[in-house]
Amino acid sequence: MVSQEIKPNIFYVGAKDYDRRLFDDLIPLPDGTTYNSYLVIGSKKTALIDAVDATKFYELKANIAKTPVKTIDYLVSNHSEQDHSESLVKLTKMYPDAKVVTNPKGKEHLMVHLHIPEEKFIVKKDGETLSLGDKTLQFIEAPWVHWPETMFTLVIEDKILFSCDLFGTHLAQSETFVTDEAKTYESAKRYYAEIMMPFRKLIVKHCKKLEDYDFDMIAPSHGPIHKNPKHIINAYKDWISDNVKNEVILPYVSMHHSVREMVEYLTEALIERGIVVKPFNLTATDLGELAMALVDAATIVVGAPAVLTGAHPVAAYAVFLTNALRPKAKHLTIIGSFGWKCQMLEQLTGMLTRLKAEILEPVIVRGKVTDEGKKKLDALADTIQKKHKELGILS
Ligand code: FEO
Repeated sequence: MVSQEIKPNIFYVGAKDYDRRLFDDLIPLPDGTTYNSYLVIGSKKTALIDAVDATKFYELKANIAKTPVKTIDYLVSNHSEQDHSESLVKLTKMYPDAKVVTNPKGKEHLMVHLHIPEEKFIVKKDGETLSLGDKTLQFIEAPWVHWPETMFTLVIEDKILFSCDLFGTHLAQSETFVTDEAKTYESAKRYYAEIMMPFRKLIVKHCKKLEDYDFDMIAPSHGPIHKNPKHIINAYKDWISDNVKNEVILPYVSMHHSVREMVEYLTEALIERGIVVKPFNLTATDLGELAMALVDAATIVVGAPAVLTGAHPVAAYAVFLTNALRPKAKHLTIIGSFGWKCQMLEQLTGMLTRLKAEILEPVIVRGKVTDEGKKKLDALADTIQKKHKELGILS
């Protein structure tokens, strides 16, 4: 347990969760996570910025006890997802006079999800401030990073931005600040891919809006604190841009080697044409790695066999997730094999409702791929090469 002063009279009092391996019962956490909570001590009032997951409340309580504060006046909720808010229930009992400070939507969410009574709230709108004496909190609405009510809190005098989920990482380490920018970059990219990518267009707007605010430190609600905000902001600017890389992501599943043979043939054909290929065997891959690869790739090719005439469920799951994550890929297609009848093409393309990618001619064969099937895979590789050249990412 650690309580650390990160700026004068601003303390990190959050909790590290080294052992957690799954978030939302969906997202793999190879490096655990942290629930960051910050105590801002003004000359007149004290505020806690975000709380921790309920499983770690005891740690938050112990960390607050190590600071000079005797009471908390404001419990600021930047985001009502339970990993940051659930401990508020206990905190409102621990500090019965404290007010929960959030925006109108945040209040609605906290009343629905945690049953916090209405009289506990102070509601602040975008740009409004709250004085702690010699420190001023300013609230900046930032919907959809990660829920519709999300906001940031800026301590104006100390130039520190509490960005909640945005710019976060699922990375538990003993150090409170970023110590290894390369490691943090990888972890932040995984976090962006798994959680933020569906909101790419909105993040463009939020990053633009942040240019109007003055801060030299970003303290997110997960992972280490950024003393060099430019590093993480520039990484985000790259990920949220419309730029794609000369890469084909090839998630696949194969039952009796037919699809695997097609995947291997296409992989070679693409490499011969100067294209980077990243195959992912869906039965063995970490979905976070696949999500990361989807951040930049120009083209996605899904490989799947038919099961009972429909798509293999593992492939369907990957397509469903891809559709939800909304990567910026420009092209997408499906290759696969079936035994006697096949409806997987309609099934899989029907699931791709949220992607703007152009669907290229699929290659579906019956049984083991023949020379004719291989010619079709060569033609697909030619098409992808042409498309990548048109995008200017392949010479
Ligand atoms: Fe870390 Fe969206 O909660």
